[in-house]
Amino acid sequence: MASRNIVKIGSATLRKKSKPVLSFDEDLGALLDDMKNTMIERRGVGISAVQVGILRRAIVIELDEEEDEFLEIINPEIIKTRGSVVASEGCLSVPGFYCDIERPKYVKIKAFDRHGKPFEFEAKDYIARCVCHEIDHLNGVLFVDYTDEGKAYKKEQGVE
Ligand code: NI
Repeated sequence: MASRNIVKIGSATLRKKSKPVLSFDEDLGALLDDMKNTMIERRGVGISAVQVGILRRAIVIELDEEEDEFLEIINPEIIKTRGSVVASEGCLSVPGFYCDIERPKYVKIKAFDRHGKPFEFEAKDYIARCVCHEIDHLNGVLFVDYTDEGKAYKKEQGVE
């Protein structure tokens, strides 16, 4: 497994909409392995392919660090949300900045695994937050877009 560079805020790539994964092949497996490795190395808890410069709808999320448990999500679709929670959020592409963001308390998604097998996944609280944050990345959205604090940060840094 290799580690890849993280695309940072200010790069136009991060604002592009990722395309669906069409081939569930060895390249996808290698990409997911690299994403996982890159995330662990940077102490992140979630990563999307666009953050390593690949505009495909693929995500890796850490479910349990001690148990070495990770979730791979390909071409996800949110099918249900419930409730809302405000909590602090950060992002590997926005180093050093954190702010409170409102997210659903519960989310249900459907997606594919790395072999192209469909599955559904339910999450709440912290993991639901990660899922929503990463799906936003696939649509070119960053958490800093949601709050005045985040908008002030972008202005201060001179980034979009
Ligand atoms: Ni992020």
